[in-house]
Amino acid sequence: MPVLDRTAGDVKDRGLAEAGRARIAWAGAYMPVLAQIRDRFEVEKPLAGVRIGACLHVTTETANLMLALQAGGAELALCASNPLSTQDDVAAALCEYEIPTFAIKGEDHATYYGHIESVIASKPQMSMDDGCDLVTTIYTKHRHLLDDMIGGCEETTTGVIRLKAMQRDGVLPYPVVAVNNALTKHMFDNRYGTGQSTLDGIIRATNVLLAGRTVVVIGYGWCGRGIASRASGLGAHVIVTEVDPRKAIEAQMDGYRVMPMADAAKMGDVFVSVTGNYHVIREEHFKLMKDGAIVCNSGHFNDELDLDAIRRISTGVARPRTFVEQYTLHDGRKICILADGRLINLSAGEGHPAAVMDMSFANQALCAAYLARSHGSLEKKVYDVPLEIDEEVAELKLSSMGVEIDVLTPEQVKYMASWSEGT
Ligand SMILES: NC(=O)c1ccc[n+]([C@@H]2O[C@H](COP(=O)([O-])OP(=O)(O)OC[C@H]3O[C@@H](n4cnc5c(N)ncnc54)[C@H](O)[C@@H]3O)[C@@H](O)[C@H]2O)c1
Repeated sequence: MPVLDRTAGDVKDRGLAEAGRARIAWAGAYMPVLAQIRDRFEVEKPLAGVRIGACLHVTTETANLMLALQAGGAELALCASNPLSTQDDVAAALCEYEIPTFAIKGEDHATYYGHIESVIASKPQMSMDDGCDLVTTIYTKHRHLLDDMIGGCEETTTGVIRLKAMQRDGVLPYPVVAVNNALTKHMFDNRYGTGQSTLDGIIRATNVLLAGRTVVVIGYGWCGRGIASRASGLGAHVIVTEVDPRKAIEAQMDGYRVMPMADAAKMGDVFVSVTGNYHVIREEHFKLMKDGAIVCNSGHFNDELDLDAIRRISTGVARPRTFVEQYTLHDGRKICILADGRLINLSAGEGHPAAVMDMSFANQALCAAYLARSHGSLEKKVYDVPLEIDEEVAELKLSSMGVEIDVLTPEQVKYMASWSEGT
């Protein structure tokens, strides 16, 4: 008897499905690698009968991933990995595709976790997470399901950090592939995807002109590099703050000013945090900011900003635009917080462009098939994406772009494997 009720779901309005279908198809046209994998899955059915619980941003690109997994034979249930990132038309369309989806843009904390519970009620054998909320909820509240679980995939840096902490504490319940760690994921999705879409989200939320303004990027990892380079391309003066001296020297040599947050706080017009860390912008920084400063976050959780602090030191708040909360400080200065500190690119924008999610989700699909095939030989550890998958995704992407590359000659293969040739 099937565990899943394929007609289930909790979305804003099922009447939005037609609009969702059209936008899913639009994104699909920019995802040729995933389309090829979907065609292959249709024939080979590598996920036949595997129940997958997914907790991902419910976007047009995720919908294309769900359809590829469904083509591979998986039984799916999906919920949002952030209360503000759901595209309601996509959620409605997915229900029509018989993929039970539990996600409503703007859902409150209780509904968010209620939706995770709905996915868990489908008794998943595999988890597909973006931020690790599904794995931690299964581990803390539903251990009886663990005997049936074969593995999981994790999409983002913060999720991988949490999973590695679970492994260190000896509580990681099953093998998980860190999809984020594939080169064809973080080098492109985190850098170019977050770079472009974060600025898109800031602009959509505020319509601010970036040329000539000072943008402070907090954290110069993969996402921070992308945001800094795109902000600079739009004519902004970019300041980077870091805690890792290697990243700081890289930012300095990439041409940005590097300084402590206490100094940057006085100079910035726009602040973006992307550290995956806690309270990187806090009371002492808000107190130094210029009148009109715009503050947002593109890291996974909104606790990168100390939102209690801004509320505490303010006399009032106005909401002049949909994703803007304008706080008035005691001395009359105003500071704008965007999208309640949630990932700005997914809250005020549409998240990463499909062409870049093509590679991230090709990795997800291939890793799910890998887990279905190889879980018997895996331990309760966080695994990197197998090199063959990473390389295959790059090859397929290049070929979809009509780009060819050289291959090593036999002589070069021999040379690269030998130590005897010297000066
Ligand atoms: N918005 C999106 O769509 C999106 C996409 C991918 C990743 N993410 C999230 O963005 C965050 C960053 O991801 P990443 O891949 O760039 O990680 P990363 O590990 O490559 O980079 C994070 C950087 O932040 C720095 N940092 C940490 N604490 C800091 C502090 N107090 N001040 C200044 N710098 C500090 C670290 O030294 C590191 O260089 C994670 O939460 C990740 O999950 C978001």
